[in-house]
Amino acid sequence: MSLGAAAALVAAACPALAGERDPDTGKLIERTHALMKSLRAAALGPFLADWPLANELRPVVPSALPVLRWLPDVKANAPARTLELVNELCRAATMMSWRRTYTAAEIGAAFLENYGYSEIVGLSGPLASERIACGFLLLGPETHYPRHRHEAEEVYIPLAGTAFWQQGDGRWRERLPGTVIHHASHEPHAMRTGAHALLALYLWRSANLHQRSQLDR
Ligand SMILES: [Fe+2]
Repeated sequence: MSLGAAAALVAAACPALAGERDPDTGKLIERTHALMKSLRAAALGPFLADWPLANELRPVVPSALPVLRWLPDVKANAPARTLELVNELCRAATMMSWRRTYTAAEIGAAFLENYGYSEIVGLSGPLASERIACGFLLLGPETHYPRHRHEAEEVYIPLAGTAFWQQGDGRWRERLPGTVIHHASHEPHAMRTGAHALLALYLWRSANLHQRSQLDR
């Protein structure tokens, strides 16, 4: 599917994306922060402590990816507890910068068609931070994100869709939206989706946010 076709699909499911109003990045960031606080999870404490104070938001250059074609699927499968945030993301998605960490040589072209993330807090996101990064990960259906690791401590919060997650050599576990998944520094982890796409909030915390995630060989 072309990027233009993907954008048309997204616009059909999320009419606000068709340019009826400007996306409110500040509202998306506020809603993200509010969800994190509402979960009252100990693992989120250090990330909330390092959350940057409200500051001027930096403009970002929008960039689309093929994985955005799954936003309508994500929206259709969002539970009540995360629906407002999912809708807010849907409204803002085409004005956000969507990126991929890996190359086709590293991970395969099929994966790249079904993978992308967009940062809202961090070194390059609209809300600046050199201590934490926060953003949204999108994975298409039937997609396996292979085992990988990084120095940054990480939390994932699935927002819509279902996926199975593995930490270290543990068993694969289905984790539902609203679950707080913590990965310690250098802890290997992997995930795979089933019939539906996955939207998840991610958080990284490190003194060096320039690092890159490493795939296990
Ligand atoms: Fe990770």
